[in-house]
Amino acid sequence: MGLSIAWQAALDGVSVTVVDPSPGGGASHAAAGMLAPVSEVAYTEEPLLRLGVDSLARWPAFAARLAEATGHDLDLRAEGTLDVAFDADDLAALHELSTFMAKLDLPVERLTGRECRRLEPMLAPSVRGGVLASGDAWIDPRRVVRALLAALSGLGVPVVRRSVAGLDTGDDGVRGVRLAGDESPATIPARQVVLATGAWSGTLAGVPPEVLPPVRPVKGQIMRLRSPVPVLSRCVRGTVRGSAVYLVPRGDGELVLGATQEELGFDTRVTAGGLWELLRDARELMPGITELEVADVVAGLRPGTPDNLPVIGRSALPGLILATGHHRGGVLLAPLTADLVVRLLAGDTTDDHPCSPSRFKDSRT
Ligand code: GLY
Repeated sequence: MGLSIAWQAALDGVSVTVVDPSPGGGASHAAAGMLAPVSEVAYTEEPLLRLGVDSLARWPAFAARLAEATGHDLDLRAEGTLDVAFDADDLAALHELSTFMAKLDLPVERLTGRECRRLEPMLAPSVRGGVLASGDAWIDPRRVVRALLAALSGLGVPVVRRSVAGLDTGDDGVRGVRLAGDESPATIPARQVVLATGAWSGTLAGVPPEVLPPVRPVKGQIMRLRSPVPVLSRCVRGTVRGSAVYLVPRGDGELVLGATQEELGFDTRVTAGGLWELLRDARELMPGITELEVADVVAGLRPGTPDNLPVIGRSALPGLILATGHHRGGVLLAPLTADLVVRLLAGDTTDDHPCSPSRFKDSRT
């Protein structure tokens, strides 16, 4: 999120510095990169769906510009998501959800088990049926991060690989960012600071507690498998006896299998139980995965908020802009967030956006 904002801001002529001890090492490193507002839709979350659809529409231009600036291949794919069901109850729930999706005018199509296997021959014969969300896409977030760093370097944007000790503030608001450690300079002066520290956004020192966004870590364990050739031609999500899993294919044969959703604070241990859960469900949908090599397992922390919407906008502390709380949709929502934040940096003062931090004001008084 921070790198996307920094890149767009620099393109807009803003003088920007990124401070991050490990750029792209947070949730982006774990994320599968689904650009899937339709298949991720949940009842009661229409505002989030609309943001996702808006940001998805911005991705092709964002990716094309990034690829052109850097020569990097981002593995952006747009063959849609096939959401499949394992048993009769899973299918009933999926059909109910597809009725909700259709009511929202989303492009979805119900398929029989046989039609699902025709699209994806590696699916198990037991798959009962599915729903194709043909507008969904996906991208490789690790490639995006590498490309963003290259683009920032090309524009001469400094990336300071140090931890932040806190915000430097005065009577007039933000004055800069204090760096941790004793190397100099200890403070980077700035009139405006964008807080885009994901699950850690609620913990920045030097900021009054009522200004910090109500963000909590939501752990996700995710596994990368390797196959000599791609085994799926689109993203597959599935529900197996009520439990959700997704499989995201990359052009080079990598298959990403995710993800657990655990409320365990800042715990980032990869556990046997977490991986077992993923493999158990994924194998029911695609038995052939047991033949694939394990390439990588990682646990990341999603920045969750009380209403699952991100927090994007000016905070009550003058000069501090929040761009966090993207929970399950950080990669999807990056282009939209970057555009919104660039407008704020340029002086936009409107505060009627559904992601505005001010929506939490009353719950804190
Ligand atoms: N967007 C998928 C996840 O957060 O696991």
